[in-house]
Amino acid sequence: ADSDHIQHETYGFVVVSNRLPVDHTLDENGELKWEHSPGGLVTALEPVMRANDGAWVGWAGQPDLEVEPFENEGINIVPVPLSAEEVQRYYEGFSNDTLWPLYHDVISAPTYHRVWWEAYVKVNRRFAERAASVSEQGAVVWVQDYQLQLVPKMLRELRPDLTIGFFNHIPFPPLGIFSQLPWRESVLEGLLGADVIGFQRADDASNFSRSVRHLLGYATTRPYIDVPVDDDTASVSPVPVPSHERRGRRVRRVLAKQFPISIDSRGYEELARDPAIQARAREIREGLGNPKTVILGVDRLDYTKGIRHRMKAFGELLADGRLSVEDATLVQVASPSRERVEAYMDLRDEIELTVGRINGDYATMSHTAISYHHHGYPREEMVALYLAADIMLVTALRDGMNLVAKEYVAVRHDNDGVLILSEFAGAADELRSALLVNPHDIASLKNTIMRAIEMPRRDRVTRMRALRRRVLDNDVAKWSASFLRALSEVRPGHRIAAPG
Ligand code: G6P
Repeated sequence: ADSDHIQHETYGFVVVSNRLPVDHTLDENGELKWEHSPGGLVTALEPVMRANDGAWVGWAGQPDLEVEPFENEGINIVPVPLSAEEVQRYYEGFSNDTLWPLYHDVISAPTYHRVWWEAYVKVNRRFAERAASVSEQGAVVWVQDYQLQLVPKMLRELRPDLTIGFFNHIPFPPLGIFSQLPWRESVLEGLLGADVIGFQRADDASNFSRSVRHLLGYATTRPYIDVPVDDDTASVSPVPVPSHERRGRRVRRVLAKQFPISIDSRGYEELARDPAIQARAREIREGLGNPKTVILGVDRLDYTKGIRHRMKAFGELLADGRLSVEDATLVQVASPSRERVEAYMDLRDEIELTVGRINGDYATMSHTAISYHHHGYPREEMVALYLAADIMLVTALRDGMNLVAKEYVAVRHDNDGVLILSEFAGAADELRSALLVNPHDIASLKNTIMRAIEMPRRDRVTRMRALRRRVLDNDVAKWSASFLRALSEVRPGHRIAAPG
């Protein structure tokens, strides 16, 4: 009840994402406990947060949890509550059973429900209101990902003084697919409330611009989009635009382009140099019966990742006799994800059936074919796995970026190891020295796996060196710095401090 009277603290830099960078858990005594969950985004933004006294607005991951803002390891946390029904309609429904499959090339059929859309609008408004209430005059607000596409416009209407950025972590689909969405115009308008809209790949940015041109009729001159505005809004943000592009209307110029995300590359590399983690990597290989080749897959258990395609290829190589279980083991980590969404339950059943069949047919008493793990692991264990793996297999059918590919490369300070990478992952735009594959082409996927197994060390090193240069030069700190630079150029005067 007191919360109505509390004057909120305000901040000059505010990040808004569906999930907070902290996990909410219960301790031994059943008391609420917050655990820092150091994802890539947190690592990148932490220094910026500290330099600017920033705040993070998001959901704590549990239904019906009302908590006041608090501080966690130097980050100001502003929780947004969701009811159980909102979790079902906004998060599991509209975000992960409508937008997620639609934006990933309809690999699974998207479901369109009006009540889900209504919940999405309502929850986006709550995030926008919360962000507005903690932003100081002229603050920079950075909204993250597909769960919150309406927030930029809502926020601009509430607070025209703010500079607003949006970054889409997943693909933006081609017009022919995006057009299915019954609320397509509202989503585009929602995003265009931002000053800068960031995408993973150049193709995502051009898919977006094309949708804006065709569905809203706004003029686009890559990388800009001219959004018509009422005179009173325009006067708040007088961005000069060449008059021939105005065609008699006042416009607000929005920048839409690619800012490929990355990882804390040095952080991963440092862990890989830790002798304890290297010992763990040897232990993992021994535990597998020391096969000649360890092939690794690491994914959230998601139908976009092509896990079945990779198992099909590996199973056929065993069936054809081109490989035996003494030659090669496939280790598949599939971390549990969105377990109440039906498409994810079905996928889990299919994958576990496949693993059981392949192991039943080919495993021996001393060697397994597929070592399957339905778990998430701490970063240290992941680094040990990457070190233990001769071949990293990334076969996504569609993926915004795929950070697993970059993590594997960052860890391989020995310059060894082969990355097989789907051309449908955003990372393929940068990681050209990987063995690129079309995961739908099973024959070629099988040949590529054999090529990786047989590749001479000299060639492995040449490729890995080139990959490492890319990943070490372009880390997540550089990503956030370049996005925030673009954002501060939109409205000179609204600068946010660089860390350090
Ligand atoms: C993808 C999305 C993120 C999301 C993550 C985990 O990477 O781009 O926005 O947080 O998956 O999914 P979850 O539904 O558990 O948040």
